[in-house]
Amino acid sequence: MSTHKIAPSILAADYANFATELKRVEETDAEYVHIDIMDGQFVPNISFGADVVASMRKHSKLVFDCHLMVVEPERYVDAFAQAGADIMTIHVEATKHIHGALQKIKAAGMKAGVVINPGTPVEALVPVLGLVDQVLIMTVNPGFGGQAFIPEMMAKVEAVTKMRQEAGYDFDIEVDGGIDNTTIKAAAQAGANVFVAGSYLFKASDLPAQVQTLRVALND
Ligand code: DX5
Ligand code: ZN
Repeated sequence: MSTHKIAPSILAADYANFATELKRVEETDAEYVHIDIMDGQFVPNISFGADVVASMRKHSKLVFDCHLMVVEPERYVDAFAQAGADIMTIHVEATKHIHGALQKIKAAGMKAGVVINPGTPVEALVPVLGLVDQVLIMTVNPGFGGQAFIPEMMAKVEAVTKMRQEAGYDFDIEVDGGIDNTTIKAAAQAGANVFVAGSYLFKASDLPAQVQTLRVALND
């Protein structure tokens, strides 16, 4: 649980070359690849859906960490399970039935993650903390890569870390948005152990070396 995991976000990659981009991620020692699904309703942007993830699966054995920014994500649980998603993380703000939706994800054989936007308090997570494998605290408003990390979110990471300890739960704590070799330290210090990074990693031509800069920062 406390081991650090790096999750390069494919949102920052070249969409016309997913197979090549996945190979690039595979050349690193990153534990996950983070896959952002956006529907143009929950967030203003549109990315891609389960069929694209199914095609990606044919080119990669990486752990697929799927972050759904879509309304009523429960509609897509079976599609993502069949596409080969390993972790399916859904927003509390996107469904009236977060508990049932997370149960559905688990029943489909995937790991279940729950995520909150910057404007949502951690209390919204309390009823489902006993169910989940991963809690994602957004450190930017979802929808786009390349935005600035919101430091105030670290209080939420600390609060969830404390809740986990007090209840004896066993889930990973992920952060997503504006993660680089500086902000990653604050996130780790607050208790996060899974770190999504998009633009910071993909802007580099040497992806493995860029991942290492995050590991170095974590070991500082
Ligand atoms: C934002 C996405 C992120 C995004 C992060 O809505 O959830 O996963 O790819 O991008 P960076 O690391 O550039 O902030
Ligand atoms: Zn994401």
